[in-house]
Amino acid sequence: MKEIKLSSGKKVLASDPFTPKDFFLNTFVGRQNEMRMITAAWLNSGNTPPLCPLLVGEPGVGKNRLVYEVAREMRLPLYPMQGHEDLTCDDLACGVRFSDKRSSAMEYVLSPLVTAMHEGGICFIDEIGKARPRALALLVSVLDERRYIDSTLLGERVYAQPGFRFIAATNTGEVNGLPEFIRSRMRPLVELGFPPKEEIEELAGRVLELNGQTPELLKEFWRLWTTANRKPTPRDTIHHFALASRLAQQPVITAGNNGHGAMVGRSANSITPDSLRESFEQLFQKNLK
Ligand SMILES: Nc1ncnc2c1ncn2[C@@H]1O[C@H](COP(=O)(O)OP(=O)(O)OP(=O)(O)O)[C@@H](O)[C@H]1O
Ligand SMILES: [Mg+2]
Repeated sequence: MKEIKLSSGKKVLASDPFTPKDFFLNTFVGRQNEMRMITAAWLNSGNTPPLCPLLVGEPGVGKNRLVYEVAREMRLPLYPMQGHEDLTCDDLACGVRFSDKRSSAMEYVLSPLVTAMHEGGICFIDEIGKARPRALALLVSVLDERRYIDSTLLGERVYAQPGFRFIAATNTGEVNGLPEFIRSRMRPLVELGFPPKEEIEELAGRVLELNGQTPELLKEFWRLWTTANRKPTPRDTIHHFALASRLAQQPVITAGNNGHGAMVGRSANSITPDSLRESFEQLFQKNLK
């Protein structure tokens, strides 16, 4: 955590930005319209402040991933926060903790939101629909043209840098639970649906580096999903192929780099229609009693 100085002169610790791992590179598929909508909402233009989009979609359709990709494209630091029932105003603004430095007993820790405001980065609140209205009330001045936040703990007001952008996500079922004072400030509503067939196939190809028998596997993949009368999300697709691939391999125990054993598969890319069926049944057709 780096130390920064607020305009009042107070020294505080900033939250660390999140940088996705490299394996994410080159595996992003589609979502061009949604990306365009977010970047348009965030353009600096005229006298109106940037808009604050709200992503809505079923679990696993790719809301987080879209935000990571937009942040990467715009080369802005990303500060994600998780919405949950116990989220408090202090979680949203600034917390305090015991210091391990001799010079001070306590130190202030800026939330990812306030760090993003101070640094001119992106704040992403995931699952915003799970946070209680009492905590969300603090966001009101952040999301309109005031672009500041009042922290009781800091005893001061922090203004957002011009580069600051805000975005949040919620699952479809929870969007109506958001208080009106947040919904009316969070526009545009960007809906992420289930990706079309071609994009699911491209995703499977890129993430899993399928080779050889791809057409046969994809045919079986769609047969399974169609028979079950369901549509796969990107997460479903990744899980389905990932388990199928592991089921088709022989596990081998080798020495890991931390001195423990590591379990690896003996042969890569060995998915078969049978392992796809077994994976589908295990992941998506088991009814818990
Ligand atoms: N367009 C895409 N291209 C490639 N991979 C994707 C895409 N969309 C999603 N994924 C992958 O699918 C998985 C699920 O995506 P993500 O976590 O973003 O979904 P989510 O909508 O945020 O789900 P939840 O509501 O459960 O939080 C991740 O591994 C992500 O990298
Ligand atoms: Mg998510």
